[in-house]
Amino acid sequence: MAQQQTFVIIKPGVLQRRLVGEVVARIERKGLRIEAMKLITMSRELCERQYAEHKGKPFYDGLVAFMSSGPSMPMVVSGEEAISTMRKLAGATNAADAEPGTIRGDLAGVTQKNIVHASDSPESAEREIALFFSPEELNPWSDGNHDWIV
Ligand code: CMP
Repeated sequence: MAQQQTFVIIKPGVLQRRLVGEVVARIERKGLRIEAMKLITMSRELCERQYAEHKGKPFYDGLVAFMSSGPSMPMVVSGEEAISTMRKLAGATNAADAEPGTIRGDLAGVTQKNIVHASDSPESAEREIALFFSPEELNPWSDGNHDWIV
């Protein structure tokens, strides 16, 4: 079981719904570590770079417009198998398929506004972290002697 870093975005609309604490609490309760986090409004250009792999898909233009429509919170999250752990915590992309108990299953009714983005591979995580954070903005930490996670 490897320690990994992953990249998460709390998407626009979550602030308006006053659900930031709810989403962050779920990430923390799972035992993942928040190593970077900021509040930004993404430019269209940044959205286009983040979602370059989806260019040409029917939902792409709407996705770029939505992601640049208001403040969002990019984060770096770490922990054991953090990439797959965070994807499971987020639930299925399609809001109707997301299982109850997951962030999207409990909080998202519309696929485009599916509350969080989470990297799908180590390569994506590395690329996305570098797109949003400079190395100085990362704050790795450990539980040291207070390792309560069983
Ligand atoms: P995310 O994990 O951020 O990755 C790509 C995003 O595109 C996805 O979450 C959704 O917000 C959006 N998306 C993917 N598929 C669809 C779809 N069929 N309709 C609308 N939006 C979609």
